[in-house]
Amino acid sequence: GTPAFVPAVVIGTGYGAAVTALRLGEAGVRTVMLEMGQLWNQQGPDGNVFSGMLKPDKRSSWFKTRTEAPLGSFLWLDLANRDIDPYAGVLDRVNYDQMSVYVGRGVGGGSLVNGGMAVAPKRSYFEEVLPRVDSAAMYDRYFPRANSMLRVNHIDNGWFEGTDWYKFARVSRDQAQKAGLGTVHVPNVYDFDYMRREANGEVPKSALAAEVIYGNNHGKQSLDKTYLAAALGTGKVTIETLHQARTIRQQKDGTYLLTVEQKDADGRLLATREISCRHLFLGAGSLGSTELLLRARETGTLPDLSSEIGAGWGPNGNIMTARANHVWNPTGASQSSIPALGIDDWDNPAAPVFAEIAPMPAGVETWVSLYLAITKNPERGAFVYDAANDRANLRWTRDQNTPAVNAAKSLFDRVNRANTTMYRYDLFGKQLKAFSDDFCYHPLGGCVLGKATDDYGRVSGYKNLYVTDGALIPGSIGVNPFVTITALAERNIERVIQQDIKAS
Ligand code: FDA
Repeated sequence: GTPAFVPAVVIGTGYGAAVTALRLGEAGVRTVMLEMGQLWNQQGPDGNVFSGMLKPDKRSSWFKTRTEAPLGSFLWLDLANRDIDPYAGVLDRVNYDQMSVYVGRGVGGGSLVNGGMAVAPKRSYFEEVLPRVDSAAMYDRYFPRANSMLRVNHIDNGWFEGTDWYKFARVSRDQAQKAGLGTVHVPNVYDFDYMRREANGEVPKSALAAEVIYGNNHGKQSLDKTYLAAALGTGKVTIETLHQARTIRQQKDGTYLLTVEQKDADGRLLATREISCRHLFLGAGSLGSTELLLRARETGTLPDLSSEIGAGWGPNGNIMTARANHVWNPTGASQSSIPALGIDDWDNPAAPVFAEIAPMPAGVETWVSLYLAITKNPERGAFVYDAANDRANLRWTRDQNTPAVNAAKSLFDRVNRANTTMYRYDLFGKQLKAFSDDFCYHPLGGCVLGKATDDYGRVSGYKNLYVTDGALIPGSIGVNPFVTITALAERNIERVIQQDIKAS
């Protein structure tokens, strides 16, 4: 039959997508969002929407037969991982040849599974990474707008200093200080007020019950509670869940025609639908948006796409590492799953590092200090279309992470020296390994702003086709990326609504 027509389609429901849909809805544009994951609002048999981190069930993972937790090998015992039934769970680990990428699946994208750390980059680094974006407008207008819409909040300092739940962070801070390194508080979208009430036993626990990467049942102000709720509130936006966009073509009249697979939560194909639209926004994330455009270019459905599609990918210099503390220096059996402090050595010209002090909420004393280091790695990967499997592969080799490992090592060698401590070698896989160089949480790039698109995310070669998400950022931003993705999407959609939509 004739495909359903809607004025605007947004693919995905993560940060870039959510911003875009809200502003389109406010402008009165009828918009359909397509999300391959589920809406996470139904309680399971245990009364919770999400399964916890310590006893994950099928809700934890996107079509896996076994969970694939980042720290799966604690003490070389496979403690954290479990066999599960394949299901449309909330966390995916996309395993490319030499790099694995964690992403969220569901209404809210990465906001469902991430640590909520809401950090604007150093202005000088933002200007280095995206020199053609007016940074004054970003820092005066769009970053504040993003922070306020995302409900970014700050931990109360007095509570932070006194609570057992952040002892792990204070221990790491003292050890960093011994090495001459400074720390900063990291803002978050987890409601720190709620967390204090958790600690007081007044409300159900989430951050204080080791919930994070498989979803937070309480406390986190994920996108479904902020931007997406506001978008639905305009009355112009609807969300189709368990709908995966597969192909994009342009019709003679300039409109876009999408084929979309609708599945059930067990993965059975229910229908293949066609949807057409005038304005098409890709917010499927660095992996998802890039794959859709690569497929379109390589299969000839959008042949005029630029050769820049697929290029400029990086893992934001992500490296995890862990240190073993002395027995007299425990990090605490009770740890909030939400990080609140970072070691800031970004201005060190030899090896810039911004290292999140991460919790290890195992429920028992581990003497571990864990970190997610964000480093400045100049190496870039590229997505290439694999026709046989109709998917994008990532061309990125393990040794491309050497500069990132070296930077993290330079910082934590200093911390270890100053505290006569050592690395932990048992956390990142079956072989002895002090640095995780084979997975990341911060995929960035693939459709880089000003290269694969114009300076506002308009895809080169096509009218009314846009990229809105982390694919726009060229591989590195120096801090956790979602505030930047959000603010950039705010900036771009404002211009697009003014020039491309109101004017048409
Ligand atoms: P995002 O990935 O959020 O959303 C894309 C959406 O599109 C997903 O919902 C996906 O299912 C959907 N999709 C993909 N392809 C599709 C298709 N073909 N059809 C339909 N839907 C499709 N960042 C940060 O700033 N602070 C932090 O603390 C953390 N911590 C963290 C922890 C973990 C475990 C992870 C995995 C990630 C983080 N991050 C983070 C990273 C952050 O979550 C990430 O940068 C953003 O979610 C990216 O936002 P995007 O808008 O680019 O896409």
